Amino acid sequence: MPRTIREQTVAELGGRGSVLARQRRDHAEMDRLMDRYDTVTDPGERDEVLRQLVRLVFGHAFAEETVLWPAVRRSVPDGEALTARVEEEHQEINRLTSEIERLAPGDEAREERVRQVFALIRQDIRDEEDTLLPRLQDALDAPRLRRLGTAWESVRRTAPTHPHPAVPRRPPGNALLGVPLSGYDRFRDVLGAGAGTATTGRKAGALAALLAVVAAAAAVARRRR
Ligand SMILES: [Fe+2]
Ligand SMILES: [Fe+2]
Repeated sequence: MPRTIREQTVAELGGRGSVLARQRRDHAEMDRLMDRYDTVTDPGERDEVLRQLVRLVFGHAFAEETVLWPAVRRSVPDGEALTARVEEEHQEINRLTSEIERLAPGDEAREERVRQVFALIRQDIRDEEDTLLPRLQDALDAPRLRRLGTAWESVRRTAPTHPHPAVPRRPPGNALLGVPLSGYDRFRDVLGAGAGTATTGRKAGALAALLAVVAAAAAVARRRR
């Protein structure tokens, strides 16, 4: 019976560079930020904590969808069903967070969605640490877990940092659209536009949609060549 990665030592996970150890570090930071959001009362600080969480969650999840879940489908016998479940969770997290980014801070509807998205992120972490990642650990030796860790990390560092519910959760669609969306998301981050203003959210949505169309058109053109 595969063992949860929650309580294993770093050495058992394949070392600090293993994808399992890297996943667990990010999950712990997500937990810390969600707990912090629930305890701070200053509205500006709460908003900054939420912005940090959104950046962390979406870069992390995008790299899972483009690098990690395809590896799970290749190496774990029931990888298809296992990854379909977490992709559904990711899709719902994308949908709810894009609504949060359109609502004003302090709005009760926004707080309700924040509670829902936190519950989903916590569920996603449990599904990955208790079920999916232990199965991957059974299938791959430590050097392969470390190589996968390096690949996952390099995508994570350049991934989009905001929700994109209209983008497919699987390659090649997500990988194709990830490049322009990542550029735009990081531009938003530099400008300080995050999980906050409704107008910026709408503008961002419009530009993200435009970028998606441009990327899709580029893909069609490439295929025709
Ligand atoms: Fe994860
Ligand atoms: Fe995830």
